[in-house]
Amino acid sequence: MANNLIEYQKFIDNAIEEFELPKAPAQLYEPINYFLTIGGKRMRPILTLMGSELFSGDYKRAKHASMAVELFHNFTLIHDDIMDAAPLRRGKETVHTKWSENIAILSGDTLLIEAYKQLTSYPPEILAKLIIVFNQTAIEVCEGQQMDMDYETSSNVTIEQYIQMIAFKTAVLLGCSLKMGAIIGGASETDAADLYQFGLNLGLAFQIQDDILDVYADINKFGKQVGGDILANKKTYLLLRALQDADATQKEKFQSLFSENNPELKISGVKLLYADLSIEQKATEKMNFYHDLAIQNLNHITLPKEKKQPLYDLADFLLSREH
Ligand code: IPE
Ligand code: IPE
Ligand code: MG
Ligand code: MG
Ligand code: MG
Repeated sequence: MANNLIEYQKFIDNAIEEFELPKAPAQLYEPINYFLTIGGKRMRPILTLMGSELFSGDYKRAKHASMAVELFHNFTLIHDDIMDAAPLRRGKETVHTKWSENIAILSGDTLLIEAYKQLTSYPPEILAKLIIVFNQTAIEVCEGQQMDMDYETSSNVTIEQYIQMIAFKTAVLLGCSLKMGAIIGGASETDAADLYQFGLNLGLAFQIQDDILDVYADINKFGKQVGGDILANKKTYLLLRALQDADATQKEKFQSLFSENNPELKISGVKLLYADLSIEQKATEKMNFYHDLAIQNLNHITLPKEKKQPLYDLADFLLSREH
């Protein structure tokens, strides 16, 4: 990880440490503290800080907005883990497994409200702009999450629908994080929009990579259950591309694996088909396609290259991540 990324990450970790919550009711606040302190790459708040730095030379003024996007992200993860029946997150037990689903619902809700509270520290003209992009994004994330759930039981999802789904559930938040930073940094509308587009394409690459890691990651580094997407019949890029490229016999094998009850057999069966169809390689190409688009968006922004360097570094770091 490049040095400047580490500096931003430390800044966020400090802000999270300073973030005070009441002690009681413990069953509400302990899970929140637990979840915020078990790790996380802090990519979205780093983007917000970088967006502000890019246009104002000052990232610290974006502290509260960066906290808002990280708190919002953590809210989505706690609820996502209920929806995906996920046992592990950041190498630790998920909130709904360690406590209960009811506790995970309410601590997630509280994080969402805490995210909005962070934004109230900005002056009205800035706040008005931040709220517009934040609200739009929050609704899109919910829409994307619903599409993701609907697609689990649908057999005719297209790759186009998949891209729309991941744009909403994941990519818009990266765009929003950058745009909020840009707004705080005083960027023009055009620059803020260009930066949003960079985040959107980076987010598409990020989610395709998340899908790849879900199948091929090293369990000791990933921190999440490996194979969870296969078990849930998630319509990932890997699965949709495999179904598209499969011959009749392979399609039949997929059909029977969808209703396979033995988790090991299900995962190994799907992985064999993926290997026959070179799916890891095809998914990596798709990820690189969106990554390249993101780089083009960044090239397009008319600021000196050295100012944009941290964003190039971050994009590179994301491509090589193992968790
Ligand atoms: C996980 O996001 C959810 C996705 C959109 C894939 P991250 O991979 O950024 O999760 P943390 O915050 O680093 O744990
Ligand atoms: C992430 O989708 C989307 C959100 C959390 C909003 P995933 O379900 O793939 O994320 P992980 O893999 O659980 O982190
Ligand atoms: Mg999910
Ligand atoms: Mg999930
Ligand atoms: Mg995933």
